[in-house]
Amino acid sequence: MAEITLNNVRKSYGTVEAIKGVSLDIKDGEFVVLVGPSGCGKSTLLRMIAGLEGITGGDIQIGSRRVNDVEPAERDIAMVFQNYALYPHMTVRQNLSYGLKNRNTPAAEIDRRMASAAKTLEIEQYLDRKPRQLSGGQRQRVAMGRAIVREPAAFLFDEPLSNLDAKLRGQMRIEIKRLQRALGTTSVYVTHDQMEAMTLADRLVVVNAGRIEQVGTPIELYEKPATTFVATFIGSPSMNLLPSMSAAASWSLAAHVSPQGNFTLGVRPEDLAPVFPEGKHFDFEATVQIDGIELVGAESLLHGKLANGADLVFRVSGRARNEIGDMVKIGANADALHIFDANGQRQQSGIADSAKTGS
Ligand SMILES: Nc1ncnc2c1ncn2[C@@H]1O[C@H](COP(=O)(O)OP(=O)(O)OP(=O)(O)O)[C@@H](O)[C@H]1O
Ligand SMILES: [Mg+2]
Repeated sequence: MAEITLNNVRKSYGTVEAIKGVSLDIKDGEFVVLVGPSGCGKSTLLRMIAGLEGITGGDIQIGSRRVNDVEPAERDIAMVFQNYALYPHMTVRQNLSYGLKNRNTPAAEIDRRMASAAKTLEIEQYLDRKPRQLSGGQRQRVAMGRAIVREPAAFLFDEPLSNLDAKLRGQMRIEIKRLQRALGTTSVYVTHDQMEAMTLADRLVVVNAGRIEQVGTPIELYEKPATTFVATFIGSPSMNLLPSMSAAASWSLAAHVSPQGNFTLGVRPEDLAPVFPEGKHFDFEATVQIDGIELVGAESLLHGKLANGADLVFRVSGRARNEIGDMVKIGANADALHIFDANGQRQQSGIADSAKTGS
């Protein structure tokens, strides 16, 4: 087991700078999840930690060792990919033991580790099958097993579940978390999936165009996004963002909420509610015309437009009482409002303290 330290790591492909100076301390045993839009550099970062990609600048340390020039096989880490990368002509047993045999691990030790991993992953009954005789979920388990038997200092996962259907993803997500807790192995995990990111991560790292945008626990990023980028990236559906200038005509803020200058107001769909009964006052109020209703099981998402045409989405539990075309007054309290400056940076000063403490 080991901590992983990235210090001002850079990567250029020719003249294109894919990673523009990333520094990150990953603690021993920590589960860190990298999220960010396609092409932002998540896989590149992971591959640089693994040693599959050279680095253009900076330092990578695994444990106490600087590994910039250390071969992948010597870095003591195991990587799990989306496409499993199992050897098709080998049985599950051979797939699991191949890496260990290559490292001249004694046969008894290979058997011990294989038995333990197969039991943990519940793949004991498939040991003599070839990968093509397994389902996607079973193959993914074998790929995990191959990483586990190496007993590495760290696991690196690059969207390992994205080929699986939603139900299986959910199951595997829980298993990965359980496994990582039991093994206590430092893990770096790349995903596009909000649920995976929020539930797996001890800490979440939001990557944007080759740079780290924000690092924090999932709930920190959810409750206090540092930028509009993070605000729209974490949470589904995304936080509503209303520019002060263009939207001012169609919504209003209470007097004690007084952001300065040109700002963007953010409010999450779950923090907005229909104003009911009439006469109750919210710090933020707006009237929307409903133009879409999605019933998603336990809750409904209502989409609407402000008078100036800006889109807004809010959620209510259960079935919506409204219909398409209804004009609905919605509101939110000051403590649910996020205020960003003209550069998209979070601003705290716009909301008076009395409002935030709810007095
Ligand atoms: N071998 C390469 N040669 C040139 N450019 C590359 C190479 N590999 C990656 N890139 C570029 O580096 C950037 C980061 O790519 P990377 O694969 O790390 O993105 P990603 O965040 O993993 O995206 P995705 O979510 O789509 O997997 C992209 O702009 C990509 O085009
Ligand atoms: Mg990728």
